[in-house]
Amino acid sequence: MAKVEASAPGKCILFGEHAVVFGQPAVAVAIEQRITVSLELLEEGTDEWRIDGMKLIPSKHPHVQALRSRLWQKKAGAPALSIHINGDIPPASGLGSSAALSVAASACLRAARGRWLSEGGEATETKHWAEGFSSQLTDTDVYSDVIEGKDPARRAGNNGQGDLHIWGNQAIDVDECALLGHAVEAIAQGGRASPMDSSVCAHGGIVLLSNEVVKETDWAYTRTLNTPEGDRTWQVHTIPVMADEQDVYLVIGNSGVHAPTSIQVAKVAAAMTENPQRMREIETIGLIARRGVEALLKGDFEAVGRAMSENHLMLRGLGVSCFELDNLVRAAAPSSLGAKLTGAGGGGCMVALTRNPKQTSEAIELAGGRTLISKIGNAGVRIEGHEGLPFWKPSSK
Ligand code: PMV
Repeated sequence: MAKVEASAPGKCILFGEHAVVFGQPAVAVAIEQRITVSLELLEEGTDEWRIDGMKLIPSKHPHVQALRSRLWQKKAGAPALSIHINGDIPPASGLGSSAALSVAASACLRAARGRWLSEGGEATETKHWAEGFSSQLTDTDVYSDVIEGKDPARRAGNNGQGDLHIWGNQAIDVDECALLGHAVEAIAQGGRASPMDSSVCAHGGIVLLSNEVVKETDWAYTRTLNTPEGDRTWQVHTIPVMADEQDVYLVIGNSGVHAPTSIQVAKVAAAMTENPQRMREIETIGLIARRGVEALLKGDFEAVGRAMSENHLMLRGLGVSCFELDNLVRAAAPSSLGAKLTGAGGGGCMVALTRNPKQTSEAIELAGGRTLISKIGNAGVRIEGHEGLPFWKPSSK
């Protein structure tokens, strides 16, 4: 049976949510909880895709649909697939479940389709790709509306000449998974998506996003997106995970309250318009995030925890916390190094940094939260297994 399986981690924001919308830095970490996507080839003659045993309805699965039109065009000969999605990241709770799904599905599709390389064939060098998306290639556009049948990933001229076909792990490129993940998140969210979730879910570890290049971290790439409010540019960096991080844990507490990100973001925007002086609060969150990054780089987790707690106070001041989140943060405080809401707020999750994960988790659960425990900085997207690859081979030209 032809099958491929890939997984990607969820994420949690340590510093800088909301302020990042105004250009300040924000830091997110990959958590242990993952989404696993598996693809199986359907019997020949079947046209209908299936998802978890049901007929796939494109409007209900915009991420999968957008990936299909980029990597799996029927007119180019791509066969119908059955998709299974599993995982332990709760959906719609700000923990990046949709980005993890998109990134893992990108890896599966690329492994199963393979990649044509042009003359000189080196899989690791994007200049040798005859097809694919990369922040290093400017002659393909992953964000543009794609016409079914046209191959948007194909490079022009001699570059697009397919000389060697590779598949499976060799064909996977993490940057491509992150880029595809960002593009399909933007499509599914009406043109607005920061690359935070897609980058962390693809690369794993710790990622810092900012308007400008931040020194002392490893700059990875620039992402630009044409949003309904105009062009936006982000600098994406990675922060090395310190070895002695092994004795500190994140405990994530889910308040169970549903609060859409768009409403929370609009609330902060309205507060800034009403009183532009409040931009100082945004700048203060930026300063706290920078201090948090310095502490992370030094492996000083006491200071990381303090910065998290200060960040929470600022978010409370902005009006994006709620009774339930404050309650969970308070419950976590005595046994942890620091605690704050994580993500858009108004509901969703909080996160505590602790050396006593069991104790902190119990305290949060007693206060009514559902908890997940994770180490800091986990592995990014990876192929878990495959057989019978490639599922198909697009024409070489
Ligand atoms: O709740 P999440 O994980 O979608 O995080 C939202 C983070 C915000 O800063 C509030 C919005 C954004 O686009 O960065």
